[in-house]
Amino acid sequence: MSTLGIQRDVPLAPLTTLELGGPAKYFVRVDDESALADVLRWAADEGMPSAILGGGSNLIVPDEGYDGLVVHMGIGNLDFRGDGTVDAGAGVPWETVVDGALSRDWAGLECLTGIPGSVGAAPIQNVGAYGQEVAEVVAKVRVLRRETLALEELVPEDCAFGYRDSLFKREPGRFIVCGVRFALRPHGPATVRYAELHGAIGADATLADVRGAVLELRRRKSMLIDPHDPNHRSAGSFFLNPIVSGAEAERVVGQAVRDNVVAAPSDVPRYPAADGEVKLAAGWLIEKAGIAKGTRRGAIGVSTKHALTLVHHGGGTTADLLAFADEIRARVRDRFGVDLQREPRLLA
Ligand code: EPU
Repeated sequence: MSTLGIQRDVPLAPLTTLELGGPAKYFVRVDDESALADVLRWAADEGMPSAILGGGSNLIVPDEGYDGLVVHMGIGNLDFRGDGTVDAGAGVPWETVVDGALSRDWAGLECLTGIPGSVGAAPIQNVGAYGQEVAEVVAKVRVLRRETLALEELVPEDCAFGYRDSLFKREPGRFIVCGVRFALRPHGPATVRYAELHGAIGADATLADVRGAVLELRRRKSMLIDPHDPNHRSAGSFFLNPIVSGAEAERVVGQAVRDNVVAAPSDVPRYPAADGEVKLAAGWLIEKAGIAKGTRRGAIGVSTKHALTLVHHGGGTTADLLAFADEIRARVRDRFGVDLQREPRLLA
């Protein structure tokens, strides 16, 4: 165990953006794929559960901590090729890849600037923002199969990407993401699809214009990690935007109009999703269910800038956070009959 660098009782809260939760019984940081396989073999031999920690920005750690081995992902290779291909290790900070791409004038990640976390998490939850999602530029995902500890390369069709979803998220026990190959577009046009972005810069903006506008929008919503921002201790969006059938969306809209929540059906934000389904706006549902921005329950509150973000103001517990989340979920269910699903992963 000592040759593997495994430590005992390591606090996890400082390694997460929510800064909540207890310690890992065992903890190790790995910098390459063979070290990863070695520590997982050790855990398997000990009959101990293991979990991977990336940037900690989409993770909720229970107050009791983790009764097993937490592996802190540090695989850090990063290679930008001339043709727009980027190979990045799972432990590389996400913004480093975005920076490298934009400094070369490569398109494909410009809307995904300002997102905390590391490369490994990007394909797991198919990170998306402002009209782009990472699945659009993933060429390959390098994985370690947990069962055999063999390295494999998956193509996008294998990854079953969806809205904040993938094979890796649906079957967390199967693969560990070790690295991602991105296929970007040297000197390609910027993506300006999101209405809010379009309104800010117009359709023929440069990559740098898009990046600047996205960073400004994120800053206004307290979705940049800034220690001076009172809303900074969060895991970003706490709930997924619900994707419902067209009929269900119409039911919600009808109810909102009948109950005078809005004056007209067009006032209810909703967006077309795949297969004729409709994406509702969870932040809007939360506010209209009576949970205003800035609502507090002790050390936990709704962000003052965005109702979809829960913030830890310091001195709280994960139990407090989950209790408030349950309260919000119940309020939205009672008001609109819509069930919100948690977005960040619970370490269990
Ligand atoms: N809205 C409200 N009240 C709020 C917040 C939002 O009414 O407090 C309404 C807005 O007016 C708008 C709609 O909800 O009509 C959508 O809001 P916004 O554009 O802020 O985006 P979002 O749907 O709340 C999603 C992602 C974010 C991503 C933004 C921008 C999810 C779960 N969240 O948020 O991702 O940055 O779009 O693309 O899909 C994250 O995953 O952690 C995250 C921050």
